[in-house]
Amino acid sequence: MIYTVTLNPALDRTIWVERIKDDDPNRIKKEKKYAGGKGIDVSRVLYHLGIPNRALGFLGGYTGMEIEGILLQEGIYTDFTTIVNETRTNIVLDIESERRQVILSAKGPEIEPVELTNLFKKLENLNSAEYVVFSGSLPPGLSPTIYERAVEVANSKGATTILDTDGDNLKKGINGKPKIIKPNIHELSRLVGKKLSGANEIIESAEDIRRQGIEIVLVSMGAKGILLVSDNERLHGVPPEVDVKNTIGAGDSSVAGFVFGLKKNLPLKDCLKYAVAAGTATTLQPGTALANKDEINSIFEKVKVFPV
Ligand SMILES: Nc1ncnc2c1ncn2[C@@H]1O[C@H](COP(=O)(O)OP(=O)(O)OP(=O)(O)O)[C@@H](O)[C@H]1O
Ligand SMILES: [Mg+2]
Repeated sequence: MIYTVTLNPALDRTIWVERIKDDDPNRIKKEKKYAGGKGIDVSRVLYHLGIPNRALGFLGGYTGMEIEGILLQEGIYTDFTTIVNETRTNIVLDIESERRQVILSAKGPEIEPVELTNLFKKLENLNSAEYVVFSGSLPPGLSPTIYERAVEVANSKGATTILDTDGDNLKKGINGKPKIIKPNIHELSRLVGKKLSGANEIIESAEDIRRQGIEIVLVSMGAKGILLVSDNERLHGVPPEVDVKNTIGAGDSSVAGFVFGLKKNLPLKDCLKYAVAAGTATTLQPGTALANKDEINSIFEKVKVFPV
């Protein structure tokens, strides 16, 4: 089984208005709720690709139940750990006359110690975990060493672990030795503490990280695609030029594409192609919508891979 872990999910509530006037009621034209979270998005894209998986993490309160219901409706299997505090809601304000979106992002709920224990018990009891993907930020107050411990537990279950996070969470999480990490170029640059320009500098930094016990480093670079650095290979996957609608979830889709390739026992080169294809396919979708299978497969044919 493939598991994704989202420790700080959110209900993303988009509100459309024509314009914003001060001191006057602003009429809401339309509202939409989306179950947001980076691991959840990985689950969605895997599901679109026909790969069964289960989304784990923390959910609490009415908002938590709402997220679970939305995912149920979408066909995603979940096994979240219940918390007493309310899962966060992010507000996206879409001001149509200004073609502008304002995003108000909430911090997230505090996690009680016993809830953390419950999550770890769940991880320790995962049945036949083949892949465990850890994605996104941590709720406030949780120590960045949580990712280190969680990755260690998943490794000890024999799973292939993937970590996709930023800052201190990534820095500390790497100590748990995830098999794969997928920083984007900015995250990698923060991790190694220097500005990176050009493939050689990126590969050098990726090799530094690999020496800490990481097998595969995938560095995503937006429209420039993804660099893969592993024991035997250094490859650059380049997407075709496309009409980008929205890049939200592109990185998470790439993680899903890569895991899809691994699950299908494809050579690393093709796993990389799927990672690029899934990311790029998601950029063709408006808003928070994610890549579908047909688009991923059609872009897959157009992804070029070059040795570096
Ligand atoms: N402008 C673009 N044109 C074509 N493909 C893109 C573009 N932006 C992203 N992609 C595709 O998506 C992949 C992942 O994107 P990116 O490097 O932006 O990830 P990220 O920064 O981790 O994103 P996220 O915000 O989802 O975490 C890229 O490697 C590429 O294949
Ligand atoms: Mg990302």
